[in-house]
Amino acid sequence: MTNSGEVHQTKLPASPLELFVDPDARRSTTRSIYRQLREAIASGRVSVGDRLPPTRELATQLGVSRHTITTVYDQLVAEGYLGGRRGGGTFVNPASPRRSTARPLSDVSPPAAHFDVPPRFDLRPGAPDPGLFPTVVWRRCMATALLRAPRAYGDPGGLLELRETIAHWINRSRGLEPTADQIVVTSGAQQAIDLTIRLLVKPGDIVAVEEPGYAPVRQLCAAFGADVRAVPVDAEGLMVERIPTGARLVYTTPAHQFPSGVVMSLPRRLALLEFAERHDAFVIEDDYDSEYRHVARPLEPLQRLDRNERVIYVDTFSKTLSPALRLGFAVVPHPFLDQFLALRQLCDWQPAEPQQTAMSHFIADGHLGRHLRRTRKVYSERHRVVTEFLSGAVQSGSLRGFTPTCAGLHITAVLPDGADEEDVRSRAEEAGVAIGAFASCWQADNPPPGLVIGFGSIPDGDLPSALDALSLVLTR
Ligand SMILES: Cc1ncc(COP(=O)(O)O)c(C=O)c1O
Repeated sequence: MTNSGEVHQTKLPASPLELFVDPDARRSTTRSIYRQLREAIASGRVSVGDRLPPTRELATQLGVSRHTITTVYDQLVAEGYLGGRRGGGTFVNPASPRRSTARPLSDVSPPAAHFDVPPRFDLRPGAPDPGLFPTVVWRRCMATALLRAPRAYGDPGGLLELRETIAHWINRSRGLEPTADQIVVTSGAQQAIDLTIRLLVKPGDIVAVEEPGYAPVRQLCAAFGADVRAVPVDAEGLMVERIPTGARLVYTTPAHQFPSGVVMSLPRRLALLEFAERHDAFVIEDDYDSEYRHVARPLEPLQRLDRNERVIYVDTFSKTLSPALRLGFAVVPHPFLDQFLALRQLCDWQPAEPQQTAMSHFIADGHLGRHLRRTRKVYSERHRVVTEFLSGAVQSGSLRGFTPTCAGLHITAVLPDGADEEDVRSRAEEAGVAIGAFASCWQADNPPPGLVIGFGSIPDGDLPSALDALSLVLTR
């Protein structure tokens, strides 16, 4: 990023394309370069097979960090515009979407897994600590599951024994009262959300999502051709009065809003249910991490308050155990349960059987309860340490603020006005600290600069050093 105030401009080799970096648009440098390149490829101004400059070279030419260019290239690779990233250069993909057919997904940062070298300190949100995974017990449950050879194709909703176990579990933990047949075991929460969107949304339908919110769902809705509308979140959660009246589906994270951490108030919950009933809309309640509650009691889930079968409740084992298991579930209202199951069967027939059997034993034999009691203590302590660190940073002026949270494995902080989020994350990365992007949580073009700080996956012993390193970056 330039400090001189001039606009940086560069021409890609063997093409008439010019890229610009306007220093006045400091917060959106990555998006701006991404859009210029994407537009150039989609419109054919850069030809198929053209080689793009190496990331380091382009970064130097434009006066931005190499991280910015890597982020842009990775995003365009993920969307199919570019190919051949590793080692041999980056080329415009022969199969890259051209303008006539291109409907690129909305702007999100590339998935966290795009780090070539794992960061020294991982403060990205989304994952629990692999060191806390109950490997020995899980191995035993898997061994028991494999005492019997896996059977053939089965129920698209999952194994009955697991569905019964989950129904019983969420009755105790969340007060829901589903019948076992309403539980559909899925490949993580994401598949449950995917199936719900396919079932309920036609191209052009309005889907309301939280702003800021969980980017993969916003992207998924856009990929289905939905008209995605960002609805602001305030201290009481999703601002129901701002949902467009024509919305067909509302996606929300009421127990612990992602990423802000606010809890949706009871009046808002009731207003949302009333909205859904009045406007013939449906609600996805994504309860992705409420098992990790550090303070206060949880409010009743929306689905428990719902009298009109408008809420699809979605939950996952990605936070409590591991995202690598790819196990989650939906509690599907009866009126469209059969269609939901039929669609699931068309997509991938059923969940993997041995994992389901293992999970069923794991929960029924009390291991999940024990695991949660053990890990809650660990994460609550990390939550305390990070909260204390953020309070100090706000007091010293290196952060503008943060929303104190009562649950989950991440906290979102807001940087001082005028700060460049991309620059802060890039400098943190250079110092060995990977942090979650706040900008990617927004549909709006110029979001406030912030950081999403995860404390799930970093081992306890590393947390103080990671925060020390982050503190240096924030005060520089
Ligand atoms: C808001 C939200 N929903 C759902 C998920 C979990 O997705 P999955 O169960 O597909 O791993 C995440 C993971 O980071 C999340 O942040």
